[in-house]
Amino acid sequence: MAGRLGQFETPFYFYDIALLRQTLEAAVSVAEKYGYVIHYAIKANYDPHILAVIKEYGLGVDCASGNEVNCAIKAGFDPSGIVYAGVGKRDKEIRYAIEQGIFAINVESLQELQVIDSIAASQGKVQNIGLRVNPDIDPKTNKCIDTGQADSKFGISYEELIDNLDNIKALKNIHVAGIHLHIGSQIRELHVFEYLCAKVNAIVEHLGNLGLEFGFVDVGGGLGINYDFPENEPVPNFASVFSIINSHLKVGGRPVHFEFGRALVAQCGELITRVLFNKTTASGRKLVIVDASMTELIRPALYGAYHNIENITSVSEEKQRYTIVGTACESTDVFDEGLTLPKTERGDLLTIKSAGAYGMSMASRYNLHDLPAAVYSDEL
Ligand code: LLP
Repeated sequence: MAGRLGQFETPFYFYDIALLRQTLEAAVSVAEKYGYVIHYAIKANYDPHILAVIKEYGLGVDCASGNEVNCAIKAGFDPSGIVYAGVGKRDKEIRYAIEQGIFAINVESLQELQVIDSIAASQGKVQNIGLRVNPDIDPKTNKCIDTGQADSKFGISYEELIDNLDNIKALKNIHVAGIHLHIGSQIRELHVFEYLCAKVNAIVEHLGNLGLEFGFVDVGGGLGINYDFPENEPVPNFASVFSIINSHLKVGGRPVHFEFGRALVAQCGELITRVLFNKTTASGRKLVIVDASMTELIRPALYGAYHNIENITSVSEEKQRYTIVGTACESTDVFDEGLTLPKTERGDLLTIKSAGAYGMSMASRYNLHDLPAAVYSDEL
């Protein structure tokens, strides 16, 4: 593989489409067993080739902006399977989502509900919405990507929701079609999903007692992947998370929806980069300077996130400890520190693994870098 990858200009994303299919197959087959609905969180990766494959498996889409809704529709996804969450939706984004007839707008504040109601009224429509409830749960993940704790900016506080239930019921141009929760991302301690179920069960029962009628329960995404040893777990454990939800969620036959991003696309993507230079700092740190940077993959610089890195061309028997740094003019542009690799030199190819989610979709043109290209295993 390294030989074939050597022909492309670096840095670029390489996608293993067979692994993507295997992952989708695994997710969809277990979801079908329980009758669960999956929306792909498109923010994880917008690549058109990836979207075309995902579409084949019949998933809906979870969007975080009007442009994401537009991207999903352009990729051929049916609006009736699209949900749209986000703490700050612009009026034009709300207008567009209503015009397109998406499945539900997941609403994150009481003020947003009123704005949606008045925009829907101006279009002579009644818009399906999901109430995004903040469940106040610690998802035990990186603090940068947790969303479900009480003081987070996401969702409506449950107390505020209850206090305003009558006002919500009185809105004529929205229909409360469901409730929505998303507690965070890269969740590896699966018992967190048990706490989520307990919260959801209590909320569903309480809202029912208060006379709010609604249908779907959307429990968001968040299933984590194995960044440390991707080869040990190329396909995330969908069966475990669905089985936990199935045993613990008691929502009286309501449709249950999920919004997975990372778990579906992270492991099928890697960032291939070439070594430009070696140098040693005054303190003796051996730097490997590669031609990728935080502009192609920002996760290490932004969250201190770990990605497994390998040299895929060196045949040296000698091992060295290196710090792998990128080309951007930022001191945090470091991919890994103290990494043991075979002797690594100018021209070698490195792979930065598990980069299919939140890699390309978060790429920027800082320092006027070109955006990286994509290479797909089924086109090689
Ligand atoms: N649903 C909602 C409402 C979300 O906000 C997110 C992710 C998802 C679903 C999908 O979550 P997933 O299944 O991918 O964990 N850029 C960060 C991750 C940010 C996640 C934002 N929301 C990273 O690179 O780790």
